[in-house]
Amino acid sequence: MIVPISKILTKAKRQGYAVGAFNTSNLEITLAIVRAAVAQKSPVIIQTSQSAIKYSNIETLFGIMTNLANTVGKKVPIAIHLDHGKDFSIIKDCIRVGYNSVHIDASLEKFATNVRLSKQIIKLAHRKKLWVQAELGAILGKEGLVKLKTGEINMEEMMTDPVEAADFVAQTKVDTLAIAVGTIHGHFKGIEKVDQVRLKKIANLVKVPLILHGGSGLSAPVFKKAIKNGVSAINIDTNLRIAFRNALKKNINTKTDMIDPRKILAPSTDAMQAEVEKTIKIFGSNNKA
Ligand code: G3H
Ligand code: 13P
Ligand code: ZN
Repeated sequence: MIVPISKILTKAKRQGYAVGAFNTSNLEITLAIVRAAVAQKSPVIIQTSQSAIKYSNIETLFGIMTNLANTVGKKVPIAIHLDHGKDFSIIKDCIRVGYNSVHIDASLEKFATNVRLSKQIIKLAHRKKLWVQAELGAILGKEGLVKLKTGEINMEEMMTDPVEAADFVAQTKVDTLAIAVGTIHGHFKGIEKVDQVRLKKIANLVKVPLILHGGSGLSAPVFKKAIKNGVSAINIDTNLRIAFRNALKKNINTKTDMIDPRKILAPSTDAMQAEVEKTIKIFGSNNKA
């Protein structure tokens, strides 16, 4: 059932577990996330990127998410969130259609600009009693990884400064904060490291729920330590894409004459559900519905 994200994250922070924020862009991924949440009796955040919204259109995607949340998922708390909102018109659309929370990602801007842009969105969202996630320090994608390897950018410099983070939250009154502590968007086993000391320092100074992005590729012990050190939600996208792709490949390579899209995609949906269930158990949000 759709509930305010404040309910989900306040409880997670108080009880010391993390909620998975899983990216979706279609029916099958959303089904997998909701079914997993039900099977594990877990709260869950379903989120869409700007490109996912552009892929379908906001009403369709929002309809799929809310419908499944309020039917299949009616016994578990579910919130809908915009991930990495950079375009003000898309953020405003999400607020208009009824997302529970939006992410204003002005992390590549200077501190003062990030504060100013975040405050503009916070003002709009708070009028409708929605929560806002802002981002301080930048979480890279694979293009960033190339620059890291060539030495063009330095991971340390991209990371969130704990004192700045406290100042940012005080100035903006933002509800949740995405922090950069060493993870990268995508699956880069061995390269991604969580700076747990920095994370702990941030958590000591910042009292709003902290969001860890770029979760795919991290190990269970790293997740558990990050949760212990103060993370309340963790974003996962790539792990589901990999589960989808692997199951699809296996299915169409073994049943070569299959033409029904539902049968072609069913193993992928099941594989993503299994991945979400595994993740929920690592995050400790099972039986917290
Ligand atoms: O943060 C990035 C997410 O994985 C979304 O990626 O823009 O390809 O939907 P996307
Ligand atoms: P991954 O693709 O690395 O799981 O990152 C997802 C994410 O942070 C979405 O905002
Ligand atoms: Zn992210």
